[in-house]
Amino acid sequence: MSQVVTNWSKSSWKNFPARQQPNWPDQAALKAVLAELATLPPLVFAGECRDLKNLLAKAVTGKAFMLQGGDCAEDFSRITGPAIRENLKVLLQMAIVLSYAGQVPVIKVGRMAGQFAKPRSADLEKVGEAELPSYRGDMVNRIEFTPEGRIPDPRNIMKGYNMATATMNLLRGFTGGGFGSLQRVQAWNQEFVAASPMGRSYERMAKRIEQAIQFMQTIGIPTDTAALNQTTLYTSHEALLLGYEEAMTRIDSTEGGWYDCSAHMLWIGERTRQVDGAHVEFLRGVLNPLGVKIGPKYDLDDIRRLIERLNPDNEPGRITLITRFGMNKVEKLLPPLLRAMKAEGRHIVWSCDPMHANTYTADTGHKTRNFNDILSEITCFFEAHWSEGTYPGGLHFEMTGENVTECTGGARNIDAQQLASNYLTSCDPRLNAEQSLEVAFQVAEMIRNV
Ligand code: PEP
Ligand code: CO
Repeated sequence: MSQVVTNWSKSSWKNFPARQQPNWPDQAALKAVLAELATLPPLVFAGECRDLKNLLAKAVTGKAFMLQGGDCAEDFSRITGPAIRENLKVLLQMAIVLSYAGQVPVIKVGRMAGQFAKPRSADLEKVGEAELPSYRGDMVNRIEFTPEGRIPDPRNIMKGYNMATATMNLLRGFTGGGFGSLQRVQAWNQEFVAASPMGRSYERMAKRIEQAIQFMQTIGIPTDTAALNQTTLYTSHEALLLGYEEAMTRIDSTEGGWYDCSAHMLWIGERTRQVDGAHVEFLRGVLNPLGVKIGPKYDLDDIRRLIERLNPDNEPGRITLITRFGMNKVEKLLPPLLRAMKAEGRHIVWSCDPMHANTYTADTGHKTRNFNDILSEITCFFEAHWSEGTYPGGLHFEMTGENVTECTGGARNIDAQQLASNYLTSCDPRLNAEQSLEVAFQVAEMIRNV
């Protein structure tokens, strides 16, 4: 059943103020790219978006848990087979740790196959005396600090679509074709992780899963089932570039209703979630599951209006509120929000983004986050839910399968001096594979001990 959306069209957002849109100098080229995109195949299907929404509905009442993660900004130069495979492996590892050790079904959602556009706090970036437009993601301009590099070029939108398509194709191959099989849990461990304490904990858990599967085979329970041998990874990104999202929006040929077919789930960022803004106008009309980021400056009435606008029918699974308050503020800011939504009977998937409000600049000049701060925010998030009688529904991470040094701390205790050794991100600092696995084990422990 699709909800009825009134006074909306896929271009009605144009009547509302749109923040964080690039100044495309060549409007004719932009128009041509978007017109072509509108004729190209969708990246996802409406039925898949509905499946995800149904799964998320379970996370509303604690019967499932969403793990959402990937790069802050995907980088065209790193869209390669091995990089996609390594990112997928870490997500699969985290998910299996959460579902095996934490005993909760996990919904896997990548910040992948389309996370190419970034909102920025400042329109301009200054390096020494030089000032240039900020980098806004590979779908817009380039990270190189040169006047040419920073010009928004609509050809990047088409390239982004193609990159997302190639990523999606490989992900579908991996998850449907046996790579995501539970009989391969051991093989997801990466060499550089396997040698670490975290990797060894993972090996032990993988061995137990292997034994459980062998036992099933021994007693004659079929193990050639899809539940064991296939997995599903949904995709998501911030719906920032409204022209692109509009071009990817199609009507569902089976049940009717509009879906933004650029990803299964779209979220609205902290900087673009104005109730009367273009992003909210656009997303209210598509039937995908939606995320909304909420930072420490939120106003409760504003959130109420936002939810009413995006989910007037209070459909479970439609809205995920992704709170990002920071480890010092979460204890104070989360409970009133939980209480209000509970009192009003709102069906919400509550997810915690422990990354975005725990960012600081190290003495070395690197933008970083500390592992313990991330863990603290997660701990406070769980504690708040347990004391309010609401359900922690998910976690949202910036992470990578690469062995980067972007966040400090963790089992190897990366310090500020080490950040430079493999700092690769084109935007925010990500947890590396080992730190990601460590978080998963810690969270599983928290969930299990309730
Ligand atoms: C992000 O998720 O990369 C981001 C920009 O988040 P937020 O909108 O919460 O700042
Ligand atoms: Co980010």
